[in-house]
Amino acid sequence: MKLNIAKLPGDGIGPEVVEQAVKAVDAVCRKFGHEASYTYGYVGACAIDRCGDPYPAETHALCMASDAVLFGAVGDPKYDNDPTAIVRPEQGLLAIRKQLGLYANLRPVETFKSLVDKSPLKTELVDGADFLCIRELTGGMYFGEKGRKDGGNTAYDTCIYSRAEVERILRLAFDYAGRRRKHLTVVDKANVLESSRLWRQVAREMEPEYPDIQVDYMFVDNAAMQLIRCPKFFDVLVTENTFGDILTDEASCISGSMGLLASASVGAHTSLFEPIHGSYPQAAGKNIANPVAAILSAAMMFEYAFGLMDEGKAIREAVAASLEAGMTTEDLGGSCSTSEAGDWIASRI
Ligand code: IPM
Ligand code: MN
Repeated sequence: MKLNIAKLPGDGIGPEVVEQAVKAVDAVCRKFGHEASYTYGYVGACAIDRCGDPYPAETHALCMASDAVLFGAVGDPKYDNDPTAIVRPEQGLLAIRKQLGLYANLRPVETFKSLVDKSPLKTELVDGADFLCIRELTGGMYFGEKGRKDGGNTAYDTCIYSRAEVERILRLAFDYAGRRRKHLTVVDKANVLESSRLWRQVAREMEPEYPDIQVDYMFVDNAAMQLIRCPKFFDVLVTENTFGDILTDEASCISGSMGLLASASVGAHTSLFEPIHGSYPQAAGKNIANPVAAILSAAMMFEYAFGLMDEGKAIREAVAASLEAGMTTEDLGGSCSTSEAGDWIASRI
């Protein structure tokens, strides 16, 4: 198969970890007889530096013309501490999600036998945890009306959802639950927020269409507690954009490191695959970042964008072997550099 991939490494550690994902993709292609080609696109702070736009039209055209987007990270501290900055790298990521219609972000949380002791949580709590967080990605406070009033002294962000937006993400969540252990947890704040009450109403209306799926509803504050109190409770968790952002960072503790969690963003146009960890500027250029999340994102790319399940599995097995062999970066207690870990995994494939 020909795999036409848009490569958007972005900022911070993005380029280093995406390079390792590319090595894994190339190794899989050699093994299974596929042909991958990569076209580079600018996004985030590096795109602002180049042309003032964190998601330039040429990058969008490239993504639209590709079969999949391999994404690194965006962000630069010089913008974080400047609340007056009008253009920000993160807007590039929001723009790509919106313009590609990527309304669903799939973030699987799994544990690796060899790493259960790396989690800050007790081994017996995390061992065997395996769930899928589905985060709505193009609505809510991220995209609702926002602004300042009273001469800049009052600020607001609006959490807004239409029935259609809620229904399409819930449908996807019901479908994934059907393919897994048939247990769906809808996370909201329906005791306080009107948008959450719409979510719950729509979910309740849909329940009869999925009689084999057990649905439960959990307030987000409770969900934040249950995720670390008993992660094995969850199978598929679905929630709105901001709650999903926060809960998935929390959930990464279950696996042992932020550097392990991959994600797929899917929707109307080309799907995008990215590690959840962000640009980690303190580590940029040092060859110390964990490439596993980016490499597992490449595995998700094979599975979700191309339906090539054996190829995805080959990557997953090589990653698991690297963790077992202790060929890990320092966040997991190993002494490998980013590129050494990437080379090991690619050669194992
Ligand atoms: C994520 C990130 C982004 C988000 C940032 C970089 C805009 O934290 O993908 O989780 O908040 O969605
Ligand atoms: Mn986040």
